[in-house]
Amino acid sequence: MENTYLHNDMKIRDYRETDYNEIMNFWNLTDMGNPERGDNSETINKTLELGGKLLVMESKSSGQICGTSWMTYDGRRILLHHFGILPECQGKGLSKILLKESLLFAKKTGAQIKLEVHSTNIKAISLYKKFGFKHLGEYNVYIIREVSNL
Ligand SMILES: CC(C)(COP(=O)(O)OP(=O)(O)OC[C@H]1O[C@@H](n2cnc3c(N)ncnc32)[C@H](O)[C@@H]1OP(=O)(O)O)[C@@H](O)C(=O)NCCC(=O)NCCS
Repeated sequence: MENTYLHNDMKIRDYRETDYNEIMNFWNLTDMGNPERGDNSETINKTLELGGKLLVMESKSSGQICGTSWMTYDGRRILLHHFGILPECQGKGLSKILLKESLLFAKKTGAQIKLEVHSTNIKAISLYKKFGFKHLGEYNVYIIREVSNL
C-alpha cells in the first residue's frame, strides 16, 4: 500500500541542466560518480545531442530526484550507465519502473541495449536478469583513462 502511494508520487522525465548538481551528489552517494570516469555537464549534453537519453525519476510532491538512467547511443547500440535509485528510496520497487521506461526508449530506438555491472552487485544483476538482460559470456572490460598519454 505504502509502495503504491510512493510509486504514484513518482514521475519520469528528461534531464534538465538544472538537475546537474543534485544528480552529481546522488551519483557520488551511490558510487556512480567516480571522477576518473570524466562525467560532467558537457559530456551529458553531448550524449543527448547524439541521440541518447538521461531519464530522471522525480518525486512529484517534494521535487527530489530519486533515480537516474543514462543511455548513450553511438548509432549502433545503446549503453546503459548510471542506472540507480537514491539510497533512501531503494527497496521499494522504483528501479523496476525506471528500467521499464528505459527499455521503452531502447525499443523506440530499435538498437540493442548493453550494460556493465560489477560481478558482486547482486541486486542490480537480479534486476537486469528479470528484465531480460543476458550475461554476455566471459568478456573482460578494458579502458584507457589517460588519453593525454597516447
Ligand atoms: C540496483 C538498484 C538500482 C536496485 O534498486 P532498489 O530500489 O534497491 O531495488 P527495488 O526495490 O526496485 O527491487 C528491484 C529488484 O532488484 C533486486 N533486488 C533488490 N534488492 C535486492 C536484494 N537485497 N537482493 C537481491 N536482489 C535484490 C530484485 O530483483 C528486485 O526485484 P523484486 O522486488 O521483484 O525481487 C539500487 O540498489 C541502486 O541504485 N544501487 C546503487 C547503484 C547501482 O549499483 N546501480 C547499478 C549500476 S550497474
